[in-house]
Amino acid sequence: MRILTFTGKGGVGKTSVSAATAVRLSEMGYRTLVLSTDPAHSLSDSYNLPLGAEPTRIRENLHAIEVNPYVDLKNNWQSVQKYYTRIFMAQGVSGVVADEMTILPGMEELFSLLRIKRYKAAGSYDALVLDTAPTGETLRLLSLPDTLSWGMKAVKNVTKYIVRPLSKPLSKMSDKIAFYIPPEEAIDSVDHVFDELEGIREILTDTKKSTVRLVMNAEKMSIKETMRALTYLNLYGFQVDMVLVNRLLDTKENSGYLEKWKSIQQKYLGEIEEGFAPLPVAKLRMYEKEIVGLKALERFAHDIYGDTDPSDMMYDEPPIKFVRQGDIYEVQMKLMFANPVDIDIWVTGDELFVQIGNQRKIITLPISLTGLEPGDAVFKGKWLHIPFDLNNHKQSLLEKENNKVLNNNYSD
Ligand SMILES: Nc1ncnc2c1ncn2[C@@H]1O[C@H](COP(=O)(O)OP(=O)(O)OP(=O)(O)O)[C@@H](O)[C@H]1O
Ligand SMILES: [Mg+2]
Repeated sequence: MRILTFTGKGGVGKTSVSAATAVRLSEMGYRTLVLSTDPAHSLSDSYNLPLGAEPTRIRENLHAIEVNPYVDLKNNWQSVQKYYTRIFMAQGVSGVVADEMTILPGMEELFSLLRIKRYKAAGSYDALVLDTAPTGETLRLLSLPDTLSWGMKAVKNVTKYIVRPLSKPLSKMSDKIAFYIPPEEAIDSVDHVFDELEGIREILTDTKKSTVRLVMNAEKMSIKETMRALTYLNLYGFQVDMVLVNRLLDTKENSGYLEKWKSIQQKYLGEIEEGFAPLPVAKLRMYEKEIVGLKALERFAHDIYGDTDPSDMMYDEPPIKFVRQGDIYEVQMKLMFANPVDIDIWVTGDELFVQIGNQRKIITLPISLTGLEPGDAVFKGKWLHIPFDLNNHKQSLLEKENNKVLNNNYSD
């Protein structure tokens, strides 16, 4: 299943571009589902049709859905919620507040991601188009599986080796203790959600199938936000394959008092094309009215894609590579707009941490690198190279051996 995720600053045209892309894909014969993860849905306004929390047929090969995060949350998390609510209420927290306290920020949207895995497994769609909330929310959402997966191993081990084995014997000890033991189904739910999240991360960062497209306007704030988004998306391993600049005023027509605005847009457009190269930049004009309904969306899709297939990889270069040359092993990360001074790199065990501002990527290193410290990272063009010298490994093994020999000699 091809996955196309559209993101960008608030109001730039994400929903319109998503809806149009989905229309085009369906015309080309792909069984397409367009899914809105934005809690403030507007997909139904774009199609001018009522949509629900389950896929609604729009036309042949096209379904759309506005996920209801609360329904999905309830279905996946109810047993966990019941357990925590019981504990909170015993501490004197009132029912509604206790209910609210069991939901972490961002969690509602998280469950809409679980659907991606479900639809992929079902195999009933060839293409999935994700219409997302404005950048900040979406980055948080897309990074969640990554962020959580780190804690996941620990939590799963606690569940597997401590909570599960102890829950039965403990619950027999006294009612007081039993009260605090999570029921089997709550433990299962947590396990299940963590397993699913791991799967979602793999699906979304599968650079052969899943890409992100950035929608923006030719305005300073929109460009800045998109540059940051691209850096973080790359950091998390998402492949961005296209940039779409929307709402451009027609340079051939006289726009009266908007003439000044037009030249500003053209200046920014030049900066975008230069800065975001080699990503292809689609230029989309400002229409005389809103883009609503299938006819308008068909026209918009034609302006975006011409005769090309929207499911094509518009640019194909995975943002994270592992390269070995002789004894030097490099983790290479494409970080287009990152400022080197904002980057922190460290290794713990077999995990490489790369942090930019408050966003962090954790990369599991191959076993041969365990215990090695990275050398000095350098930027080559837009790529950050983090080297590991395997000689250091041999060196430290040799030192260990020598120490052993020394120690043995000493003890003799
Ligand atoms: N090129 C365009 N010409 C004219 N109107 C447009 C164009 N692109 C988008 N619009 C209109 O602008 C409004 C906002 O667009 P849209 O909902 O697609 O943006 P969005 O990025 O999804 O917004 P939000 O961040 O609120 O989700 C809609 O009414 C849409 O029809
Ligand atoms: Mg929208």
